[in-house]
Amino acid sequence: MTEPYVRDATFADLDAISAFEARAFQDDPEMNWFAGLDTAITDAPPPQSARALKNLRVFLDSVNRSVLIVGGRITVVAIPQESGAERLVAFAAWVPPHKVIEGTMTSLRGKAYRSIFSWGLSSVRDQRATVVFKPTIGKIVKKALIERGYHATDHYRLEITATDPEYQGKGFCSLLAKEGLEKCQSKPVTLEATTTHSRDVYAHLGFETVEAITLGLGQVNARGLRVRDKESSVGFAVTVMIKVGFY
Ligand SMILES: CC(C)(COP(=O)(O)OP(=O)(O)OC[C@H]1O[C@@H](n2cnc3c(N)ncnc32)[C@H](O)[C@@H]1OP(=O)(O)O)[C@@H](O)C(=O)NCCC(=O)NCCS
Repeated sequence: MTEPYVRDATFADLDAISAFEARAFQDDPEMNWFAGLDTAITDAPPPQSARALKNLRVFLDSVNRSVLIVGGRITVVAIPQESGAERLVAFAAWVPPHKVIEGTMTSLRGKAYRSIFSWGLSSVRDQRATVVFKPTIGKIVKKALIERGYHATDHYRLEITATDPEYQGKGFCSLLAKEGLEKCQSKPVTLEATTTHSRDVYAHLGFETVEAITLGLGQVNARGLRVRDKESSVGFAVTVMIKVGFY
């Protein structure tokens, strides 16, 4: 078999996933904001950029771990190699209905505390990921579900998805979305897009925009990077999206 295929991932795959995932997110506004960066990984000189990429990888690994810990599904696109090994090139992480990944025990088991050491105390003090980002988005999602006649927590959440930059534009995200949506038993699926590209891809895959919001206003620029001058600290756009119906 030489064709790429989709399979379920296990904890043993998480290292290979976070390696390409960090490269996919290395200039993502949300990740730049979470990390408290003032220089994007892509613009930083080699020793600094390698360290920042490693730190991002640690954070993303905790997110992925947490998804599996709460009983979520991580799916990967694997390409068989001549050696018989697989190369993992894309992944999607699905959180099931009524579950969240931000619980204290889940965070501990997912080793989220590692980011205290890598990103520093400021990212914890500001609690961007757990206090600002999630409750803000969570409120919008709940309202959207109730307005559409669903229970506020009865939805799948496409927590995070990425394709290795070397393999983007080849339909791998579509492959994962199609396979994953079929398993969602016609329940609503929610997600956030933090770039115009991912928003457009998700819209193409049938997601509708619930609300577009700005995060990090007064702190960061449109790339999610910390800036001192007020004029540039316009924040970055996040689009909350939903897909409802039969797949
Ligand atoms: C967003 C991302 C996951 C897309 O992955 P990908 O494997 O390159 O996407 P695909 O090639 O499968 O494209 C998905 C679909 O969107 C379509 N598409 C691509 N660019 C598009 C655009 N600008 N507008 C509309 N549709 C677009 C493709 O044609 C494809 O549809 P098709 O299968 O019907 O032809 C990838 O760009 C990525 O990893 N980005 C960085 C991380 C990120 O932003 N993740 C999402 C937020 S969690």
